Amino acid sequence: MKFHIKTYGCQMNERDSEAVSMLMLRHGFTKASSEASADIVIVNTCSVRGKAEDKALGKLGLLAAGKRDSPGRIVGAIGCVVQQLKGDIRRKVPGLDFAVGTHRIGTLPEIIALVMDGKGPIIDTGEDRVHESNLTLHPEGGISAFVNILYGCNRRCTYCIVPAVRGHEWSRPATNVIDEIRQLVSAGVREVTLLGQSVMSYGRANQVWPESHRSPCGFNEPLPRLLEAVDAVDGIKRLRFTSGHPSGCTEELARAMSELPSVCEHLHLPLQSGSDRILEMMRRGYISNDYRKAIECLRKRVPDIALTTDIIVGFPSETEEDFDMTVRFMDEIGFDNAFVFKYSPRPDTAAAGWHDNVPAKTKMHRNKVLLIEQDKRGLAINGRLIGQEMEVLVTGTSLRNSSRWTGRTRSNKIVIFDQIGGCERGDLVKIGIERVGEQTLYGKCNE
Ligand code: SAH
Ligand code: SF4
Ligand code: F3S
Repeated sequence: MKFHIKTYGCQMNERDSEAVSMLMLRHGFTKASSEASADIVIVNTCSVRGKAEDKALGKLGLLAAGKRDSPGRIVGAIGCVVQQLKGDIRRKVPGLDFAVGTHRIGTLPEIIALVMDGKGPIIDTGEDRVHESNLTLHPEGGISAFVNILYGCNRRCTYCIVPAVRGHEWSRPATNVIDEIRQLVSAGVREVTLLGQSVMSYGRANQVWPESHRSPCGFNEPLPRLLEAVDAVDGIKRLRFTSGHPSGCTEELARAMSELPSVCEHLHLPLQSGSDRILEMMRRGYISNDYRKAIECLRKRVPDIALTTDIIVGFPSETEEDFDMTVRFMDEIGFDNAFVFKYSPRPDTAAAGWHDNVPAKTKMHRNKVLLIEQDKRGLAINGRLIGQEMEVLVTGTSLRNSSRWTGRTRSNKIVIFDQIGGCERGDLVKIGIERVGEQTLYGKCNE
């Protein structure tokens, strides 16, 4: 039986799909070369905004309807929308063979086997936390890998559905994380990104280090200690972690970022708004000055740190003044890149009870203004890189032009370059930057 997984949503979902895919292979299923040729189609769903949910449900509806023409085909859903809708998902998408929630994906091969035995449809959204044991498999031959260090989220920002669909925060023991990374690196992985919704909460809700652990650099906080231990894995070239929160931008973290050679000079630190009134309504746990101080603390030790962020426009009651504060604050910080989202009310969140009073047109306009401002800023920041030589991890040939290569800098910028000497996927090469766009750098490999 051949399977295909279609994934929506964040890096966490990407990582879940990878692990599920490896688990399916272990159970004797094979990968289909395309969705059309698959006997089993699995849709990994995201529900962070209304649009994401609609997209996933729309796709599932099409697939379920398509079963009329190919009766033996199995179609099912996993991920956040399943966890959110639970049994209701069958009402929304009649004809689904299975729906498995975020905490139960490790049982997917068994559930599909039951469906194949005629025991479907099966809806399983039980258990309040994920069991990592069989979700640590990775595809072979990767250069970069994502590794979960923290599941769920305890923050409860008022707009966010993630805590409801991913459950309580739970941090993996450091030794499990380090073992997984050792295996990855010995199989050829050069770059690791540690994943968690609020990664700086690592080790806050449950203990991750044995009492006896002593940090060689004298770190006391769980995340800097983890960075230190992963940095020490022989052969790792680059280490990242995402997403950040200002509360974790401490002196120790700044020191870890500047002293540990593999830790890259980049941080994704969602700001959401520049207005203190809105930040408080969002229950983000910081106001603009805390965010400012967090950045100052990092920049003192890592002056050239690249910063990326998420912004929500049109949060309930957001005025033109609030929005201006966001524009001004973004300008003050100077982000390398920003992802801008239009507020969308989500079930099971505090903000869902508030009047979604910013008109769609205004949300669209504010979204556009921020993207234009950000593009200007991004271009200016990238412009300073012209003439510099940057270390690039080669990830493959360019999608648009296969005679050119592509890779990423330590600051996580995409570089497209001509290959003069020889290079291969996974190499670290020095690229002279010649030209820049808002999102991409262009240059030459002189080695
Ligand atoms: N855990 C991450 C964010 C996960 S969701 C963090 O806190 O850093 C990714 C982004 O989606 C958020 O940063 C936010 O900008 C956006 N988002 C979340 N809920 C939203 C909603 N209801 N409407 C619009 N954007 C939302
Ligand atoms: Fe959602 Fe806030 Fe948790 Fe991020 S930190 S996942 S925005 S509740
Ligand atoms: Fe979406 Fe779930 Fe990630 S809601 S953003 S896939 S945690």
